[in-house]
Amino acid sequence: MPDFKRTLITAALPSVNAPLHIGHLAGCYIPADLFARYKRLTGEDVLFICGSDEHGAAITISAEKEGVPPRVVVDRNHALAKSSFEKLGMSFDYYARTSSDVHRETAQAFFLDLYNGGFLVPHDAPQFYDEQAQMFLPDRYVTGTCPVCSNPDARGDQCENCGTYLNQTELINPRSSVTGSKPVVRATKHWYFALSRFQQQLETWIESHQSGWKDNVLQGARSWLKAGLHDRAITRDMTWGIPVPLEGAEGKVLYVWFDAPIGYISATKESLDPINNPGIRYAAEDTADWRTWWQDSETRWIAFLGKDNIVFHTIVFPAMLMAHNESTSVGRAPSPDAPRSGYILPENVPANEFMNLESQKLSKSRGWVIELHEILERYPSDVIRYALATMMPEQKDSDFQWKEFQARINNELADIFGNFANRVLTFASRNFENKIMGNRKELDDAGNALLAAFGVRANEIATLYERFRLREATSETMDLARMANKYFNDAEPWKLAKENKEEAAKVIRTCLEALRALAVYFAPITPTASASIMNTLGHGFTEETWANAHEPKLHGQTELGPIGILFSKIEDEMVESELVRLRTMAVEAAARSGAARGGAARGGAVAAPTAVAKASSDGKGNPAATGSELITIDDFKKIKLRTATVLEAERVPKSKKLIKLQISLGADEKRQIVAGIGEKYAPEDLVGKTIVVVANLQPAKLMGNESNGMLLAVNDAKGVVTIVSPEAEAGLEVR
Ligand code: MF3
Ligand code: ZN
Repeated sequence: MPDFKRTLITAALPSVNAPLHIGHLAGCYIPADLFARYKRLTGEDVLFICGSDEHGAAITISAEKEGVPPRVVVDRNHALAKSSFEKLGMSFDYYARTSSDVHRETAQAFFLDLYNGGFLVPHDAPQFYDEQAQMFLPDRYVTGTCPVCSNPDARGDQCENCGTYLNQTELINPRSSVTGSKPVVRATKHWYFALSRFQQQLETWIESHQSGWKDNVLQGARSWLKAGLHDRAITRDMTWGIPVPLEGAEGKVLYVWFDAPIGYISATKESLDPINNPGIRYAAEDTADWRTWWQDSETRWIAFLGKDNIVFHTIVFPAMLMAHNESTSVGRAPSPDAPRSGYILPENVPANEFMNLESQKLSKSRGWVIELHEILERYPSDVIRYALATMMPEQKDSDFQWKEFQARINNELADIFGNFANRVLTFASRNFENKIMGNRKELDDAGNALLAAFGVRANEIATLYERFRLREATSETMDLARMANKYFNDAEPWKLAKENKEEAAKVIRTCLEALRALAVYFAPITPTASASIMNTLGHGFTEETWANAHEPKLHGQTELGPIGILFSKIEDEMVESELVRLRTMAVEAAARSGAARGGAARGGAVAAPTAVAKASSDGKGNPAATGSELITIDDFKKIKLRTATVLEAERVPKSKKLIKLQISLGADEKRQIVAGIGEKYAPEDLVGKTIVVVANLQPAKLMGNESNGMLLAVNDAKGVVTIVSPEAEAGLEVR
């Protein structure tokens, strides 16, 4: 193991084609920030870098859908990402954007170095061309049937259904998403990166990390290597992006996955420029130079990212860095950015897996999503951070559930950590004139034992952080707060205060020291609460490190500041309205996509995103509907509507809106559905009623109750939900 002096931490540059959502947070940003904040507390020099990825077809497609230039989309979503990250408490040293001049120059220089080194070779290759639009179609602009799983809506770069990475010309029945026409194949010139030359080197490098990297990351990298690496085109026929800096390359830009990771390097340069980033602090003189962070073997680079980015950070970008090192060390004229010792490679790539939402895949287009800026309007940042830290998909896919969110906050954050702070500070205020009493050198034995145990446990938690087991680190940190509560309970200071005030003072002094230490241990997870505790204690973070936090440090007789509620509890109503909001969004998305026209599924009825909602083209190859467009009879046939009779109905406990129904779809089929109709109907009104249900809807869980279908209802102008009730027997198909 080399000895490292400093840690460079990067978080994948989010594509600003759309707002960020909780999947991004759990997959990449929360773990990155926990780690960065922890690492700084160890006293190590840290640089934490991120920024907006502003190029690529994801962005031009969003812009075209909106009918605005790409610049409008990236400006808006960059500003939103930046401010949302700030509100969430992300402690980036710098948040860049890939549309900056520094980035363009850095990426073009990098390209030229590889080109001059012989690692970028032009080839004419067949590519889809849209004759109506008179343009070459980048991968994502072509959809068609997946050759592997027959998904009819596979994208030219990847099939989202089976995950296969595709070459656009492999698609069956390709169609252009610009005009909907069938594209023709034409030759176009692109520059190919000689990825295949790095097969051996990458294998050796990845296997050298087999003990330190997470299994999911090793597996992802190995499966690529096993399939054998091929050279890859790293230019595209587009106007949005970084122009290819060669003559004869007009109308071509760098492929977004070529320029985006170079963004880490350009962002580092920008972050160290005090004019550009006035907040930057240098621990040592050499750390003001970007090369110290990128080209010094004493720098440890940790790259945080989500599952779908693994290949680019374990294979493609490392190979680009290797190629750059070879290009510039063989005596060819180096660019002004020529390295001192060559680029370092990531020391670890602790990628997470995917997080689902209420048992379904997150999907923006299906409205099954919680966006960051929106959840920040309803919950404090610490609450979001803690909940996600306990639910993130660290070893395997995980599931975000609002019920669990509530339980984590109420039963842990508020009842354990918040409650300890509150009872100790309240006690000090009532019994000790709101001052820190006693002497930090004279704690009782149990108090000394508590703080010593903190020291030992903190050391173990440090190991968890270093091994990127951040979920465990979070739950172990909560255990420290449990230990503190236990100490308070066992010492019974409320009894002591009557009998022996001095002993009581010792207990409270210990508790205040424990609270200070907890503020340090929780600082990576709940930075706002930690700062507020320190504020109340009249004590800053300057003397604190992860290793010494357990040592008593408070000054006697200090007046304590005001006590606020650290964490408010989340009411049941709140959870319920979150679930209704989610279902409503999904229904609206389905309606927008054209499949659920006719108001059938609007408003209060409860739905989950469905396969139906995916029917985003009209079957003739026209692009996804944006407004209320017409659908074909085939689209409609995908929705199975059937009559049903209500057999039983009961309210879902603690819910105003939800009613659980047992329904019969004819003689041989019974089902349970859950519907948001409880404001208008009492359960007894419903029994015997005939309703229409969407029978082929994916099952969903609502407040723990399985729902196997959705009933049709209308939502009148006043928002009252009324069931659509036909005069027909149960079990028939509605057509
Ligand atoms: N923009 C990509 C995404 O959202 C991530 C880019 S990471 C970087 O998936 F390495 F390219 F910066
Ligand atoms: Zn597929």
